[in-house]
Amino acid sequence: TKVYIPLDSFAVANGADEIAEELRKLSDDRGLGIEIVRNGSHGMAWLEPLLEVETGNGRVGYGPIEPGEIEALLDAGFLTGGDHAKRIGDVFEHPFLKGQTRLTFKRCGVTDPLSLEDYEAHGGLLGLRRAIEMGSEAIVEEVKESGLRGRGGAGFPTGIKWETVMKTEGPKKYIVANADEGDSGTFADRMIMEGDPFCLIEGMTIAAVATGATKGYIYLRSEYPVAIRVMREAIKRAEDFGWLGISVLGSAHAFDLEVRVGAGAYVCGEETSLLDSLEGKRGQVRFKPPLPAIKGLFGRPTVINNVISLASTPEILAKGAKVYKDFGIGRSRGTIPLQIAGNVKHGGLYEVPFGLTLGEIVEGIAGGTNSGKPVRAVQVGGPLGAYFPRSLFDTPFDYEAFAEKKGLIGHAGIVIFDDTVDMMKQARFAFEFCAVESCGKCTPCRIGAVRGLETMEKIIAGDNAAESLELVEDLCNTMEFGSLCALGGFTPYPVMSAIRHFPEDFNGTPMREAAE
Ligand code: NAI
Ligand code: SF4
Repeated sequence: TKVYIPLDSFAVANGADEIAEELRKLSDDRGLGIEIVRNGSHGMAWLEPLLEVETGNGRVGYGPIEPGEIEALLDAGFLTGGDHAKRIGDVFEHPFLKGQTRLTFKRCGVTDPLSLEDYEAHGGLLGLRRAIEMGSEAIVEEVKESGLRGRGGAGFPTGIKWETVMKTEGPKKYIVANADEGDSGTFADRMIMEGDPFCLIEGMTIAAVATGATKGYIYLRSEYPVAIRVMREAIKRAEDFGWLGISVLGSAHAFDLEVRVGAGAYVCGEETSLLDSLEGKRGQVRFKPPLPAIKGLFGRPTVINNVISLASTPEILAKGAKVYKDFGIGRSRGTIPLQIAGNVKHGGLYEVPFGLTLGEIVEGIAGGTNSGKPVRAVQVGGPLGAYFPRSLFDTPFDYEAFAEKKGLIGHAGIVIFDDTVDMMKQARFAFEFCAVESCGKCTPCRIGAVRGLETMEKIIAGDNAAESLELVEDLCNTMEFGSLCALGGFTPYPVMSAIRHFPEDFNGTPMREAAE
């Protein structure tokens, strides 16, 4: 009998390794001959560790299982899909999974992440094989046509980035996957690296074939030990398979890949800091231009993309641009893996076409708060994203719609707060975060964050609050328009959205604008 126990960090953090060991022992002792597959997560975080057993009636799930529960589970007829308080039935029929459109995450949770055989059996390598036949220009056209935009947060068209690198001459070119997923409440990069690592490798190889790059790096944060181990093992297996190395799947293209582990600075998720760090320097933001596409890693043309942007391309190449482009709204095409976290009933990863409203996501899919209290604020786009109140719940999930309301979708992290949240403290936290993580290269951010923190503390102390709030607004303007990168430039978003949408939290001193 085949039993799936996720190796994903969601599950491991809740005892999946111990559970796997318990099951292995019991299987040996009782001579049950159980085959344990360590799969990725389906993304239903509240059910992890979610165990699945393969039965004649599909994969039956049980979760969340705790260490020590296995024996009783076996006795309840787990191996034949028997009844149990934690039985959730056919996993693929679960409403949370059924409502999704899984293009990028279609294998995550389903396959054995480290089995190339399983990967190919579920559509893996079709995109790369087609890309090799098509050649550089046609690949770039296909990615442009798909409408795919950078999933790290900036939403720059991926095909145009690849085109710039393709057209730039250079003795050597690089593909860099930005896997320094630093935004609070985000985990899509981690989940795909743990649950379907070959998908990222395939996307990076397609980018290499498209641009003529021969070397790739995955810049992976040290806080993701499982992802580091799985990615390294997957690379080794892809090399042995004849996929990576001097000839990509027997073609004239060469491509080598390496994992490099970051040291834990938020700013190293900013692309130019990341490149400095990869070169062995202290991670500090570089001036742009030149763009990394022209002069990137070691001064060479470099594609630097977020993990999800790269991992979305195998499906685009396999099925054609149109299939991808047909999903979504406006200029936001295809699907987006929403990451739902915070005070939430059903948190996890939910891949859907762009266009659901924030309210549909928060109240519908996520089922509201875990505390059962009303949702008061939702922060979308990481620690630099704006806080949206309920009155903005009709905003569709779309780059432009969020920008219009002075927010951002960023890397699609959605953090939910109930009515006990103190928005003044959240605004203070934004300045504190920026002060701690600032790389120090430009003045608006280096000095501004510290002055902002001091001023917020005055407001909290009730010290001349109205005047201090005006100062905060001025400071935010300077930071937004004067900072060199998004860290200083976007810190005003959480601060100003908190002040604008929740003026009642700021010691009874509504902002000028709110008062007008
Ligand atoms: P950006 O707008 O400066 O650049 C976007 C991308 O397009 C960059 O890779 C840039 O090099 C590239 N690009 C621009 N013009 C190009 C051209 N003509 N040819 C080729 N490439 C071109 O934005 P930036 O500073 O890279 O990212 C800011 C975003 O990062 C924010 O929107 C925020 O949402 C997001 N962010 C994400 C985090 C995460 O953990 N994923 C953390 C913090 C911020
Ligand atoms: Fe560095 Fe902050 Fe300036 Fe970005 S905004 S370059 S993190 S000092």
